[in-house]
Amino acid sequence: MTQITIAMAKGRLAEQTMELMEALGIDVSPLKEKSRKLVFESGDGRFRYIMVKPSDVPTYVDHGVADVGIVGKDTLMEENRPLYEMLDLGFGKCRICVCGYAEQEPLKKAHIRVATKYTGIAGQVFATRGSSIEIIKLNGSVELGPVIGLSDVILDIVESGATLRANGLSVIEEICTCSARLVVNRVSLKTKETAIRPFIDGMRREVERRKEQGL
Ligand code: PRP
Repeated sequence: MTQITIAMAKGRLAEQTMELMEALGIDVSPLKEKSRKLVFESGDGRFRYIMVKPSDVPTYVDHGVADVGIVGKDTLMEENRPLYEMLDLGFGKCRICVCGYAEQEPLKKAHIRVATKYTGIAGQVFATRGSSIEIIKLNGSVELGPVIGLSDVILDIVESGATLRANGLSVIEEICTCSARLVVNRVSLKTKETAIRPFIDGMRREVERRKEQGL
């Protein structure tokens, strides 16, 4: 039996990822146990799971130590690794936006300070603009940037908009929409095709079924 190793993103996507796999009859119960373990296996041994920081998912898959990864499009854009993006899983929908105090028109400034976790995406977005740009890397609570005066704007994901609202900020510009994606290592897709293809096909059918049912 060929075992598939799946790198899953901790945090906002984890629960829905497990739910989707359970709907396919895949055993993810070991992932739900409270433990400091880092590697888990399904009861039938068909799957091995690693639960890692979202930004590390593309790294594990690119290096081939995970065959498959489940992670947000935002992270894939930022990490920009040569992976096969096989499937839009339809959950974890959010928008990458430039946000700040819209009434202050911060994008009209000659020098714009941008706080973000996504320095790569921010670099691309602002590369062709007339202003001089300073990108400030933060690892979380990015909204603090404009609130506390560290930056003029942020580039971040907006899901419900609650964090922006709670901090008096708003969307100034929408860059793109994102959702969870299934990615595959390029070599694994060839060497483990008989195991990986049916897994992807099953995921695709379940995603389509959910879409049809408006779930
Ligand atoms: C993300 C993102 C925003 C927030 C957006 O942060 O960076 O801060 O969620 O979601 P909302 O529009 O539903 O409020 P996350 O919760 O992942 O934590 P972090 O700030 O530690 O990165």
